[in-house]
Amino acid sequence: MSEEAEAVNLQKEYIEKVKNIIKNKELKYTILTLGCQLNENDSEKICGMVEQMGYTKTEKIEEANLAIFNTCCVRENAEERLFGKIGELKNLKEKNNLIIAIGGCMMQEEHIIERLKKSFKYVDIIFGTHTLHKLPEDIFRVIEKREKVKDIVDIDGYVYENLPIKRTSKVTGSVTIMYGCNNFCTYCIVPFVRGRERSRKPKDIIEEVKKLASSGYKEVILLGQNVNSYLCSEMNKIKQGKMQDVNGDFAKIYSFAKLLIEINKIEGIERIRFVSPHPKDFTDDVIEAIKNSDKVCKYIHLPLQSGSTKMLKKMNRNYTKEQYLELIEKIKSKIPEIKFSTDIIVGFAGETEEDFENTLDVVRKVEFEQVFMFIYSRRVGTVGDKMPDQIPEDIKHKRFDRLKTLVEEIIAKNNKNYLGTTQKILVEGPSKGNAKLLTGRTETNKVVVFEGDESLINSIIDVKIIEDHMWYFNGEMIVTIHSI
Ligand code: 5AD
Ligand code: SF4
Repeated sequence: MSEEAEAVNLQKEYIEKVKNIIKNKELKYTILTLGCQLNENDSEKICGMVEQMGYTKTEKIEEANLAIFNTCCVRENAEERLFGKIGELKNLKEKNNLIIAIGGCMMQEEHIIERLKKSFKYVDIIFGTHTLHKLPEDIFRVIEKREKVKDIVDIDGYVYENLPIKRTSKVTGSVTIMYGCNNFCTYCIVPFVRGRERSRKPKDIIEEVKKLASSGYKEVILLGQNVNSYLCSEMNKIKQGKMQDVNGDFAKIYSFAKLLIEINKIEGIERIRFVSPHPKDFTDDVIEAIKNSDKVCKYIHLPLQSGSTKMLKKMNRNYTKEQYLELIEKIKSKIPEIKFSTDIIVGFAGETEEDFENTLDVVRKVEFEQVFMFIYSRRVGTVGDKMPDQIPEDIKHKRFDRLKTLVEEIIAKNNKNYLGTTQKILVEGPSKGNAKLLTGRTETNKVVVFEGDESLINSIIDVKIIEDHMWYFNGEMIVTIHSI
């Protein structure tokens, strides 16, 4: 058995130990997750472990016996918000004997740990991105031995399989296929807090997707900081003789394209999405795999970050404006129905009006279906933070507003193209705004609200788009009448 498998088995023993101690006590936990889908997926694992111990979930912090924060440090200063929240817990801590556990990306940052140690001594557990699987042991130590636990390591990272998981959605299953990042984009903290790229074995991913399919899931979303580098590190190590493929794990599936093709074969799964690929690694085999795999959505999230070649160089993105646009054209020429979404950062160090205009130019040319826009936020420890030519906040905000106006114009224009068309909708559940209506998504991730019976939840049906709004459509179900 591998060391990682042994480590997970040990934690399963701790789950049982805690379960015995808290038996019949009807204890509750609450969790706050910040950040991206990868963090959400980590939280699903945290919930899986904690619920196996016997805790039940509550949204009300006053009822909780265990409060968990899964933090993110990629953007904005979530620090003040987190510290404010922890401050609020002090009273509850004394009243309810609350256990407070804080984990995730932010805990890999030294200045955060220093502040926690100094001002928030009553926090019980601090865990990092590489020690999430040890939460059962941490909780056991707090309950049984009344210890304070700080379990953070700064390593390249391992892959732990078979952790319990409590999924939030019953329709879409998130599957992390790789961890970490090797790219070191100069604005980004991820490579520092999540370690080096490491991929899960194809067989473990396939098994997880098959399990999702047999539990009724129709959609999977493959997650990673850089999904199209899937298995690149491993294959390089094998080539260089630094690693051996003893069990033939990588013989058949050795790339992201191969993984897509294999997942496409899994019966029961009807939609496959993935986030995020990196433009510099978007190889032809991936384009072919998307084209030839009927279940892979013809909708690609392709982070641009900036439309200026000069800025892209400063950001260490390894492509130019022209190369990005050529890639879009190449994909379109092979898959005419393809649509794109993207991420853009506004106001990175040194961004001039001309650079920003280049970003607007790419947005106009590609006509993205969706753009996730971010104001550059300096991250301690990154190269970007040390760049001298930082942009004043007011300019950043003005540019952000201009980008937002353009993006909304384009989205509104694109939305008109949907009117009168029939779209395949994966039905997710009752609409949040009106529980009598159902909500679902098109292949291009547009939300559609329509009248229908709850029995349709978790199936893919045809819906005609009859009204467009900026962030959702109204639709009408198409009823197929079979003649006798
Ligand atoms: N400031 C603003 N946005 C950032 N992102 C990553 N780091 C930063 C930062 N320091 C954005 C990028 C990335 C998305 C997940 O978050 O656009 O694609
Ligand atoms: Fe950050 Fe760049 Fe890695 Fe994405 S590819 S996680 S932006 S360093």
